[in-house]
This record gives sequence, structure tokens and C-alpha cells, in this order.
Amino acid sequence: MHPYGKSFNHAIADVTVSTLKESGHEVSFHDLCAEGFDPILMGEELVSDRSDDELVQIHWNEIKEADGIVIIHPNWWGQPPAILKGWVDRVLRENVAYRFPEDDDGSGLPIGLLKARVALVFNTSNTPEERENTVFGDPLERIWKDCIFDFCGVSNFHRRMFRTIAGSTSEQRQAWLDEVMDMVCEHFPGKER
Ligand SMILES: Cc1cc2nc3c(=O)[nH]c(=O)nc-3n(C[C@H](O)[C@H](O)[C@H](O)COP(=O)(O)O)c2cc1C
Repeated sequence: MHPYGKSFNHAIADVTVSTLKESGHEVSFHDLCAEGFDPILMGEELVSDRSDDELVQIHWNEIKEADGIVIIHPNWWGQPPAILKGWVDRVLRENVAYRFPEDDDGSGLPIGLLKARVALVFNTSNTPEERENTVFGDPLERIWKDCIFDFCGVSNFHRRMFRTIAGSTSEQRQAWLDEVMDMVCEHFPGKER
């Protein structure tokens, strides 16, 4: 997810999609900004197990069936951009992505429902690694690995933060895109490319 079509995030997404397709995978690609995804989880939808939003229904159906998931976004205030946070709120709903045991009031341990066998997260940022880890504590790692994917049953999780985008050379960016291709090939094996 990134609002600007010429962003490095879009370059990562392009390489990811083409690598997956070249190795024979079926890809459901969503650019949330381009498709106008509405990130607001309203009260009616919150207390229901249905949505009147056809796009949300499409995302529900796809995420439930996905064999693997790749999330791509910039670091915005140590978090995913709001539109992607809203996607998590509206798409990774109870009984879609997780459920609680019958006798649980919702405070216990969840049962993950996603059948994806791997989740990859590609991030970009402008903060050097040492400052990210020591000053900010790398919140995106906790958010995606523990709060979201482990909660939803996807423990085979890999994340790569590309940094710093500001001031990077075209050679560096190409090397990063090669790394994206290698990670996708490693975690989504397919027929020989
Ligand atoms: C609203 C906003 C918040 C941002 N917050 C952070 C941040 O907390 N940490 C950081 O390292 N970079 C932050 N950035 C910089 C972006 O992460 C950076 O522009 C992006 O990763 C570059 O990738 P791109 O070329 O695909 O835009 C922020 C940028 C914006 C627009």
C-alpha cells in the first residue's frame, strides 16, 4: 500500500507480483489506495458477521483461501498507513482470520483461522536500523509478527525493512529489488523460472 504510483513500495509490489506469476502462482493483487478501500470499520459492521461492502467481501474470501500473504507498505509513524490499518480492522475479522474457543469470552487465546503457510512483510523507512531498534523498538515487527499474523495462525513469518530510502542510489534500490525477488522465490517456491 502506498498512495504514490512511482514510490519504491510500488516497485517492490511490481517485483513481488511478477516473481510470483513467473513461478506459476495465482496472485490476487490489491493496491488499497487505487481500489479506494474504505478503512473505517463502522458500528453496524463491527457487531455483525456480514458487510455490505462488496470489496470487503472479496477480501474476506481471498484472505481465507490464500496459501501465502505478502504485505508491502512504508513505515508511517512506526505503523502501517491508516488505509492498511483499516484493512486489518475490516478484513481480519473474528471468524474470518481467527476465532475464540466456545467457552471463551474473547479474552483468552485465539485460534488462528488463516490457512496461509507463510506471510511476508516488506517495509520501507528513512530511519537507520540502530535508531529504529534502540529508540523506537521496531514497532512494525511486533504489530505484524505477534499482534496480527501469529494471532491469526500464520507463524511462518518473514519481514524485511528496506532502509534508508531517502538518499539511496539507484544501484542500492536495484539490489533491494533483487533481494525482494530472492525472498519471494525462497518462500513461495514454484516451477523453475
Ligand atoms: C506520514 C508519514 C509518516 C512517516 N513516518 C515515518 C517513521 O515513523 N519512520 C520512518 O523511518 N519513516 C517515516 N516516514 C518516511 C517513509 O517511511 C518513507 O518516505 C518511505 O518509506 C519511502 O518509501 P517510498 O519511496 O516507497 O515512498 C514517514 C512518511 C510519511 C509520509
